[in-house]
Amino acid sequence: MCGISAYIGKKEAVSVVLEGLKKLEYRGYDSWGIAALNGEPAAFSVVKRVGKIGEVSGDYLKKAIKGESHIAIAHTRWATHGGVTEENTHPHLDCSGKIAVVHNGIVDNYQELKQELLERGHKFSSQTDTEIIPHIIEGLIGEGLEFAAAVREAAGRLKGRSAFVAVFAATGQLAAARKGTPLILGVHEDNSDELFIASDVTAFLEHTNKVMYLDDGEMVLLNGRAMFFSLETGKEVWKRVVEIHWHAGAIEKEGYDHFLIKEIMEQKDTLFRAINQDDAKITTVAESVKNAFGTFFVGCGTAGKVCMTGEYLFSKIAERHVNSVVASEFANYQHYLTPKSLMIAISQSGETADVLEAIEVAKSRQVKVISLLNVFGSTMMRKSDDFFMVNAGAERAVVSTKATTAQLAVLTLLAYATAGKLQDGKLLLMDAAGSVNDMLNPRYEEHIKKLARLLINKQNIFVIGRGLNYPMALEASIKLQETCYIHSQGFAAGELKHGPLALIEEGTPCIAFVANDETKADMVSNVMEVKARGGYIIGIAPENNEVFDYWLKVPDAGDASPIVNIIPIQILAYHIAVLRGLNPDFPRNLAKSVTVK
Ligand code: G6P
Repeated sequence: MCGISAYIGKKEAVSVVLEGLKKLEYRGYDSWGIAALNGEPAAFSVVKRVGKIGEVSGDYLKKAIKGESHIAIAHTRWATHGGVTEENTHPHLDCSGKIAVVHNGIVDNYQELKQELLERGHKFSSQTDTEIIPHIIEGLIGEGLEFAAAVREAAGRLKGRSAFVAVFAATGQLAAARKGTPLILGVHEDNSDELFIASDVTAFLEHTNKVMYLDDGEMVLLNGRAMFFSLETGKEVWKRVVEIHWHAGAIEKEGYDHFLIKEIMEQKDTLFRAINQDDAKITTVAESVKNAFGTFFVGCGTAGKVCMTGEYLFSKIAERHVNSVVASEFANYQHYLTPKSLMIAISQSGETADVLEAIEVAKSRQVKVISLLNVFGSTMMRKSDDFFMVNAGAERAVVSTKATTAQLAVLTLLAYATAGKLQDGKLLLMDAAGSVNDMLNPRYEEHIKKLARLLINKQNIFVIGRGLNYPMALEASIKLQETCYIHSQGFAAGELKHGPLALIEEGTPCIAFVANDETKADMVSNVMEVKARGGYIIGIAPENNEVFDYWLKVPDAGDASPIVNIIPIQILAYHIAVLRGLNPDFPRNLAKSVTVK
């Protein structure tokens, strides 16, 4: 979703923020813009474009940005308020053109604030909620406030979850405020020479891996050095410098055509890293599950399907009932919550707005919240009572792969720990991780690519599974929808005959997860029912079966079957997308870090 990259320092600022924006492209966006301060007297040069950054030449930028600059703010916009147009693209300026703002998130009360500003004579040139921010700051400076005080006051007036960065041309100051969506400062040891602000560390990781986190309800003023303040009290806040352990190389394609296939292949290692959890930590989380009166696994999208798999894993392995709830629906469950309830929130980014809101609902009912995360320092980590990490490393493709299997591995381990069998779980998962390592070879990929060629022109693909692999059928259809733009639906195999079977025609592809477990016989019967109606059966199974038209072999991984089963689907979705001429790293309309509700 929207990305912010801002810089103040000795380097040429436009190149720095532009490189930063390119690093944020993975979040998904429709348009982008830069405002750089230059000239004498200082004024903004602004560039705004609809489309991708790569489509614009360096020469064009040099012409558009007049002169060298040492302060610049830049933004990738994922449209919410107002269409995808240059007018709606950030940065937005006030009437005088002296204040430029980039903003992530949503201002819930923007209509009333805009009305007030219109009544005071302010002129607007976009339909965005963001544009009110420079105008509010302008009004406050007009009333005699200094820039920093005006930014603080403006932030106080905004309702909803957002963050913004503002630059004041008259003083060359840059300030940022955070109220619910992340902003991180990149600094050097001495906290002076140059400072970066971004929505995500990847924007400046090639310059520094030392960061200072802006927390909710805080602002920062960059004025030679970074000074942090509480938005509520205006008092200065002390911050420590934290070192990030991701290296810049981890966010490059490293020879692969796309991040998606790179991240799929990385599962050779990431599963081992995920399993390598501290026994004491996993046991503590397992104890929390055992002691809770009602555990809720909560996540969105793919992470939501992981939560659902958790329900099956806990039932089967730990003989314990847990609930999985889609985060955007969690508020509807609050009536069951008590201080003895437990929430396990699962998120790759740790920034998903719906999950953050669910955490707030849980906290308002005194529910303990433990988060399973991939991004250290994320908002969820800071809002939870406790957290543990999946250690999958930076995931850049919008489509989640290595973080998903790492989450599945950690949940499987947790279920075993809850059953008092942590070491058995570790052994099982080590075996599965070893098998994944063997699976991810060029011959296997080629076999899947052959299937991709058969499916590229299909309009619908059905996916069925039972037990642990029912949620994986749902996850598989997400992969096919978002990567290949093919309509796909996942079903509990037994449900097919209650409606969807009517859609099966001669040649309709149906992917079936046939694990070697107690669901196998029923799965085979359901597959036969589809086959009898002309369905083209793609079996994902450890053993071939005469009912399969195409067999994708997977290792017999026992309770870890969701992990090994989803991997061929990830590869399949990738290759269908490439064969259809799509960019698998940037699915249309989607974003990686979904910071709006
Ligand atoms: C977006 C991503 C999905 C992801 C979901 C939840 O929709 O495209 O891949 O599963 O958000 O994200 P989270 O960061 O909370 O896991």
